[in-house]
Amino acid sequence: MSVWLCTFVKPNNWLQMSGLDLPIPFPTRLHSALIPYKYQLQHPKKLQTKPTSSNSSFTSQTKIMASLIFFSFWIASFVAATSAGNFYQDFDITWGDGRGKILNNGDLLTLSLDKASGSGFQSKNEFLFGKIDMQLKLVPGNSAGTATAYYLSSKGSTWDEIDFEFLGNLSGDPYILHTNVFSQGKGNREEQFYLWFDPTADFHTYSILWNPQRIIFSVDDTPIREFKNMESMGVAYPKNQAMRIYSSLWNADDWATRGGLVKTDWSQAPFTASYRNFNANACVWSNGASSCTSTKNSSNAWLLQELDSANQEKLKWVQKNYMIYNYCGDTKRFPGGLPKECNSGF
Ligand SMILES: *[C@@H]1O[C@H](CO)[C@@H](O)[C@H](O)[C@H]1NC(C)=O
Repeated sequence: MSVWLCTFVKPNNWLQMSGLDLPIPFPTRLHSALIPYKYQLQHPKKLQTKPTSSNSSFTSQTKIMASLIFFSFWIASFVAATSAGNFYQDFDITWGDGRGKILNNGDLLTLSLDKASGSGFQSKNEFLFGKIDMQLKLVPGNSAGTATAYYLSSKGSTWDEIDFEFLGNLSGDPYILHTNVFSQGKGNREEQFYLWFDPTADFHTYSILWNPQRIIFSVDDTPIREFKNMESMGVAYPKNQAMRIYSSLWNADDWATRGGLVKTDWSQAPFTASYRNFNANACVWSNGASSCTSTKNSSNAWLLQELDSANQEKLKWVQKNYMIYNYCGDTKRFPGGLPKECNSGF
């Protein structure tokens, strides 16, 4: 279970969070190690074939092209596990002493929070890459002080993590959707948004696309954030540690609503958030191996997915109209200069 430490650092509505987990030894570097091995295994001859041209830059370009093509084929031949949700099958309620419930034959999960405790659940499976959708309906009414966290995380002191967190508010005042990306234990990459609808009135779909090139956060199929793999610039990217899905509903009234000014009104308790329609198109990691094997399969386009121009426009629309905090714009917070990934035009 993650223990969240929250320090209020700046007046302008933002918070720094870090999840602490017990260190558990975990195999790393799976993906980067696996690709060249597999590639060489399948294409040893092709790798050695030399084009007839003696122009060396042409030769290396051809090699790069060939690598890309074979890499694409290899990726496309993955078999990923698709899981269309049953909460009994896919999740365990991990804490809250009965406050988390699986209902309707596994179609619905609810978490609740009262003065004594919150509650939480986690996926049975661990994943190394995936496209993971969940529908959430958040605590309605006066939800000030409550926080609903929904995230992927690995274990250990250099963990990776991809976060959605929903910060409640007084009736009629807007929730904040808080996002963050940790790689190898380093986060500090908060982006916060208002939503363009009332997230307590209905279920809405919150998705994480996580593949070797990028992480895309989406709400009802509208991308709100993209975190690209920029290892080439020396920015660590989550790609070697499998992650579980976690969610929890808890009291965060020391910082969540208007920076901690508005406290939880316990006369409104219990507070309840609901989940349904979990869907994972993902590589399940178990016993040191990935379910994504080399059997032919064409349903894994998500492993190479990127934002097309229509989705890039949607992303811009969200960032222009609904973004309320971006760490990359917070020059006061980073007096020694913005993090490297901020200056790369993404
Ligand atoms: C709550 O409402 C206030 C007033 O509209 C707003 O400033 C704040 O961003 C909202 N959300 C949270 C989580 O504080």
